[in-house]
Amino acid sequence: MGFPIYRPRRLRATENLRSMIRENSLSVKDLIFPLFVVPGTNVKNEITTLPGNYQYSVDKALEAVAEVVALGIPAILLFGLPSYKDAIGSSAWDDNEPVQKATKAIKTKYPELVVITDACLCEYTTHGHCGVLENGCTVNNDETLPLLAKIDVSHARCGADMVAPSNMMDGHIKVMRLAMDEAGYSNVALMAYSAKFASAYYGPFRAAADSAPCAGDRKGYQMDPANSNEALREVALDIEEGADIVMVKPAMAYLDVVSRVASTFNRPLCVYNVSGEYAMVKAAAQNGWIDEKRIVLETLTGFKRAGAKMIITYHALDAAKWLQE
Ligand code: PBG
Ligand code: ZN
Repeated sequence: MGFPIYRPRRLRATENLRSMIRENSLSVKDLIFPLFVVPGTNVKNEITTLPGNYQYSVDKALEAVAEVVALGIPAILLFGLPSYKDAIGSSAWDDNEPVQKATKAIKTKYPELVVITDACLCEYTTHGHCGVLENGCTVNNDETLPLLAKIDVSHARCGADMVAPSNMMDGHIKVMRLAMDEAGYSNVALMAYSAKFASAYYGPFRAAADSAPCAGDRKGYQMDPANSNEALREVALDIEEGADIVMVKPAMAYLDVVSRVASTFNRPLCVYNVSGEYAMVKAAAQNGWIDEKRIVLETLTGFKRAGAKMIITYHALDAAKWLQE
């Protein structure tokens, strides 16, 4: 039955009517705030490519986390810049490095906050690749797996609630799950970067985390941006291997993938609103070209509408404040 009997505008006339038929909503409880931790004390460096975000020493990270907690954001995602790098990234599983120290300090002070740690090697290797190299710039999958397991267990030992491996090695979820279970951390969850694309949108992050590959690119392990059926295969594999949460990354240019994953699988789905997406919004807002608050809330709501259950975003603190207004 069409016009003039059915008039969609009838239920759009007032805010109360609109709120009654609203299908999706954004809540502070959907947000995960990424944080970069560095060696030293009293360090709070603004990240040039991510205005409003900082590299923190552990003491300063605690101050930032106080704000996260006060705003009601349920979780943070920790990335680390180590005090030393080598060819295999051994600082990644050193309990005295920033991610491990920050995890211990934050969980001691804020036991309720969900602390998620990034498990990858690119910040920790001299060459900036996400695994061990063989003949030039190829990452050897199977030699990388045991190293990822060590990272995982180190993070769990320091009190992480959840580990998020962002390296895109085949079989890593299973290896990490088994390693954690064997070490007695069967309650530590795994958030799998299941469909992580080889994206130019990670540029600002690599400056922040000092993790750009010194040669080559990540196309040999991250997904081709042209693929969506393959994303479903990746998600299926990670679920089979024991992922508790699956992820699509980046978010904005991949909402079709988000939607397909959400309707195909019965697993909590996370999207990563990545650094390049954030940087574009910030740059336009700083120029006065867009209304930052409305753009951000609309974008984050779009992730929910597409089927995401949770959102990793550098906008988390601002969005939480705006949602309170
Ligand atoms: C490391 C990692 C990257 C991001 C998260 N973990 C960069 C990359 O894969 O090169 C990107 C996050 C962002 O752009 O915000 N593997
Ligand atoms: Zn990496």
